[in-house]
Amino acid sequence: MGSSWWWHGRAAAAAAAAVACWVWLAAAAAVGVEAIGANWGTQASHPLAPDTVVQMLKDNGFDKVKLFDAGEDTMSALRKSGLEVMVGIPNDMLAAMASSMAAANKWVDQNVSNYLNDGVKIRYVAVGNEPFLETYNGSFLQTTFPAIRNIQSALVKAGLGSQVRVTCPLNADVYQSSTSKPSDGDFRTDIHDLMLTIVKFLSDTGGAFTVNIYPFISLYSDSNFPVDYAFFDGAASPIVDGSATYTNMFDANYDTLIWALKKNGFGNLPVIVGEIGWPTDGDMNANIQMAQHFNQGFLTHIATGRGTPMRPGPVDAYLFSLIDEDEKSIQPGNFERHWGIFTYDGLPKYQLNLGQSHGLLKAKNVKYLERKWCVLKPSIGLTDPRLSDSISYACSLADCTSLGYKTSCGGLDTRSNISYAFNSYYQKNDQDDVACGFSNLATITGQDPSTGTCRFGIMIEVDSAFSWKLQHVRSSNLLMLLLVLLQLCLSFS
Ligand SMILES: *[C@@H]1O[C@H](CO)[C@@H](O)[C@H](O)[C@H]1NC(C)=O
Ligand SMILES: *[C@@H]1O[C@H](CO)[C@@H](O)[C@H](O)[C@H]1NC(C)=O
Ligand SMILES: *[C@@H]1O[C@H](CO)[C@@H](O)[C@H](O)[C@H]1NC(C)=O
Repeated sequence: MGSSWWWHGRAAAAAAAAVACWVWLAAAAAVGVEAIGANWGTQASHPLAPDTVVQMLKDNGFDKVKLFDAGEDTMSALRKSGLEVMVGIPNDMLAAMASSMAAANKWVDQNVSNYLNDGVKIRYVAVGNEPFLETYNGSFLQTTFPAIRNIQSALVKAGLGSQVRVTCPLNADVYQSSTSKPSDGDFRTDIHDLMLTIVKFLSDTGGAFTVNIYPFISLYSDSNFPVDYAFFDGAASPIVDGSATYTNMFDANYDTLIWALKKNGFGNLPVIVGEIGWPTDGDMNANIQMAQHFNQGFLTHIATGRGTPMRPGPVDAYLFSLIDEDEKSIQPGNFERHWGIFTYDGLPKYQLNLGQSHGLLKAKNVKYLERKWCVLKPSIGLTDPRLSDSISYACSLADCTSLGYKTSCGGLDTRSNISYAFNSYYQKNDQDDVACGFSNLATITGQDPSTGTCRFGIMIEVDSAFSWKLQHVRSSNLLMLLLVLLQLCLSFS
């Protein structure tokens, strides 16, 4: 069918009655048009209130949400939201789930049955998150499958066997192709048998294969990767594979998986794209223009409903990610804290057509701290020997990932660069005066130092985190004071 989901989106917006919406949903389902989902991660020092995030998801037309755990506040906020939910079991719980059926039963009881009864539309349990990443050194190879099996048994025992399915979000390197052709795809040799065990189980129990696909990472880790192949506008040198021609990496990667499944006898297993997206900062290829280009290209691509050469039809996908998370590890790269379509405070970074009649809408009812910033004192010279320690201190505890080469604040002069680091630490510590100390090198200003693409943020209020943060900064400053005293004592002795 030629009709795309955003055409339906406009029709639905025009029809105010709930009945009309229902008819629209039924029609969308009938043409096999899939809804779009979002990943909601919470590794932030000042997360938006869960109710605010749920409203934001609904305002912007997301139909489903993927979580990385089953946090109580998050789950409660999703009650009667109408959003379909994929809840997650973090990797550090896999061993417990694998070794004890009782633990799996308890997890399903507390984190699925409970919330279902409360009106949370849980449809999937994601057991683990990319457990076979090479950086985990095989830590989860033994526990992932038994955990999947136990959670599935627990779901059946709870009477939810047909309502809630298990899956396991995997990174795309669990399969590979010895050539660049998708038709040469198969599962990675070192985990081939394990993958078949998992795939067979998912197939037998009505589960789905979830895969995270990241053209950005390919570009980031390989300077020879053709940039146009990451996007969806056609590529200068497409990959020809039999009768199929691939002009974008997404289709080729997805079909490499479909070939791997097919080759091993599971060509019809449902596939979910668990994460797909592009970061906006922290790397020369991470910016607003490229993120919008990629995400809009992807949405438009799947909106045709044509799918890929090997799997025609709708693509089931969750964008990564909804909101920036300032406490994510930057071990994969400085871009890691910048995957959000929205900033930490719920502002859209760029426009995206998600099938609504309006553009992206910002989060509602966000409360900011005062309009003030911590900056380098004008009287301090750049040769001051205390500067480098203070900058390192601020950057190690706050966030300086926007200060690198070709990042959003990469063009700042040295003074502003230092101010950015100081302000990041100050805001992260809820604008506590003590956090703008820096051995008297810093001062507080009411004048916004933001310029061009570089935003000096103001932190948002987080009631529950507030007192803990204050205590944290006071105790770390006390520690610094003690160290200074110790140094003084030593230098006098
Ligand atoms: C339910 O999920 C939460 C959040 O992930 C976790 O802390 C808790 O231990 C889980 N409950 C059980 C009984 O395992
Ligand atoms: C994996 O091994 C490397 C090298 O031996 C080590 O540096 C790293 O910390 C290990 N990672 C984990 C998650 O165990
Ligand atoms: C700005 O700060 C970052 C992080 O501290 C540093 O890597 C970079 O070299 C600095 N640039 C300038 C112009 O001072």
